[in-house]
This record gives sequence, C-alpha cells and structure tokens, in this order.
Amino acid sequence: MSSERLTTLDLKEMKKRKEKITMVTAYDYPTAQLLDEAGVEFILVGDSLGNVVLGYDTTIAVTLNDMIHHGKAVVRGSKRAFVVVDMPFLTYQVNSEDALRNAGKIIQETGAQGVKLEGGLEIVEAVRSITQAGIPVVGHLGLTPQSAGQLGGFKVQGKDPTVAKKIMEDSLLLEEAGAFSLVLECVPWQLAKAISERLSIPVIGIGAGKFCDGQVLVFHDIMGLYTGKRPKFVKQYAQARSVMLKGINDYISEVKQGLFPDEKHSFTMSEEVLAAVLE
Ligand code: KIV
Repeated sequence: MSSERLTTLDLKEMKKRKEKITMVTAYDYPTAQLLDEAGVEFILVGDSLGNVVLGYDTTIAVTLNDMIHHGKAVVRGSKRAFVVVDMPFLTYQVNSEDALRNAGKIIQETGAQGVKLEGGLEIVEAVRSITQAGIPVVGHLGLTPQSAGQLGGFKVQGKDPTVAKKIMEDSLLLEEAGAFSLVLECVPWQLAKAISERLSIPVIGIGAGKFCDGQVLVFHDIMGLYTGKRPKFVKQYAQARSVMLKGINDYISEVKQGLFPDEKHSFTMSEEVLAAVLE
C-alpha cells in the first residue's frame, strides 16, 4: 500500500473499479494516526465535532476556528488518507464570495485536501465558486444536520416522491457544479442506489444502505465512545469506552493504595547527593 496522500482521482478510480471506499470522522492527531494506519481512504473532520467532542447538542455552535484547529491536528496525524474538513454553519450559505474565502482559509490553514458543504440547489453556486478556485468539494444531501430544524428533526429523508426527487436533482446539480464526491445521509437504500448509479463521482453513504460507493460513520459511534442517542444506522465495532473506563479505574485504585508509582516508574539519586541536600 503506497503511503502517498490519496487524491480525488484515486477515489474516483476506486468507484470505477467498484472498490468500496471507507470514510471515518476524526477530530484529533491520535485518531487520525489510527485511521491512517488502518488504511481508511477518506478522513472527515466532521462538524459532528460539536456533538461528540465539544459536548454541544447540535452542530450549529461549531465555528470556523474550531474546524481549523481540529483539522490541523488531523492533517498532522495522517499521511495517506484524503482529509476533508466540514464547513460549519453559516460559513458558506450567505454568499459565494464568503464561501470561497472560508473554504480557502480552511485549506490554507489546515493543509486538508478538501471541504464538505451541506445542501443542494441553495448552495450550488458556492460549490461552483469553490471548485473553480481549485478546491475539491464533497457535497452532503439527505439528512443535513445543520438544517435538521427545518427538516423536522433527525429523520429519514426522501421517503416521499417530492423530497426523493429533490435529492436526486440536487445530487446531479452538485456533480455538475464540480463536487468530486457526495455524502448521502439517512435516505432509503433504493434512492441511494439509484443516485450512486446515476453519478460518476463516488457516493458515500451513512444510513443510506449498502449500494453506495463507500460508507462513512462517526469514529466515536463505531468505537462505542459516544454516550448520546445512537441512530439506527450506527454499528458499534468496539467498546472502547469500557476499556478506557477500566484503565482509569485501575489507575485510581493503584494511586489510592500506594501501588503506583512503583520503583520501575520512579527516578533515584545517590545517597551522597541526598545527604548534601539534607545537610
Ligand atoms: O459531521 C459529520 O460527522 C458528518 C457525517 C455524519 C457525514 O457530516
């Protein structure tokens, strides 16, 4: 496996070869190292940062500086994965100039390879101006958490013909505007399959069934680290929280009992030096 940074072309080639793409979120240096070592192709510095790391209820409070701060750590921790940073709420919806300036700031300051924006028709001009400036863009349709309030909550999107048609049309618009990949969240698998077949860019699903070109999940969800509500589409692959809790409890117990630190974890000095100090 080459250790060079993957490119948009590599990801598009994977779709052509029908090789599934894996994407996982990361927000810090050690997680990025882990994901890179494991061979994940796509790392998303998601604004789910707000929920799983910063303790907010939604992603709305996450700022551009938050994303840049965490994006930098993820880029430093990874060598091979393609790193995409989420553009947070209101950093791309106001107008295209604003969107391009903020996307540029993310790329310049973090060294990430691309940005992700939520929405379709409403933000397509922003996507066009960012991609025309040479910045790779990932779209995000279906359940878009930054507009969950308007969508009526965290619900499956596209079960009815009007919304399903809009998601299909928006996906084509995003591809035409230059997006090189698309995240589809919480949509019926049949719709995700049709979109994945229709688009030439890789479609990465989350709660969108198995026919997408790749899958994404939030790191804290798959590792069993997040204690909040777990959506139906999340599969837990490890119980890292209980492993960590045991480690912390063992440490507390050894300190309380005077078992830590032992000789192995302590430094020593000669009797003469000690005597000189105590004189
Ligand atoms: O912020 C995030 O983690 C995301 C994924 C859920 C796709 O956008």
